[in-house]
Amino acid sequence: MTDPDRKLFEQAAAVVERAYAPYSQFHVGAAVRARDGRVFCGVNVENAAYPLGVCAEKTALGRAVSDGCRPGDLEAIAVTASPCGGCRQWLVELGLERVIYRNAAGEVTTATPATLLPDTFEL
Ligand code: THU
Repeated sequence: MTDPDRKLFEQAAAVVERAYAPYSQFHVGAAVRARDGRVFCGVNVENAAYPLGVCAEKTALGRAVSDGCRPGDLEAIAVTASPCGGCRQWLVELGLERVIYRNAAGEVTTATPATLLPDTFEL
């Protein structure tokens, strides 16, 4: 893994403590790096109405989009957990190049969105 990707993962790990996950106790952090060097962090935010909770990836990606980033502007995302199915669709939508994440075995690994979600539809 390259030094910048390792650093991005460290930034994701650094925000885990800010996760709001009183229901699952599963705290997740994410950090997105734009091609211009900006980094956007996010955590999962849960709700007593369970389906309303949002994942760390969506929080970080929402911040990036809100600051003006568009598909193709985002280079990599680091996540302290394996991205859920819905988040994988977001990674495809926003054209991330690489995903650095901690897999179920506890190893930090790198993959492309296409590997994580093959055969996506086009609208
Ligand atoms: N979670 C994430 O934040 N990202 C993922 O990709 C996996 C799941 C969160 C959602 C929920 O708050 C908790 O982990 C348990 O599913």
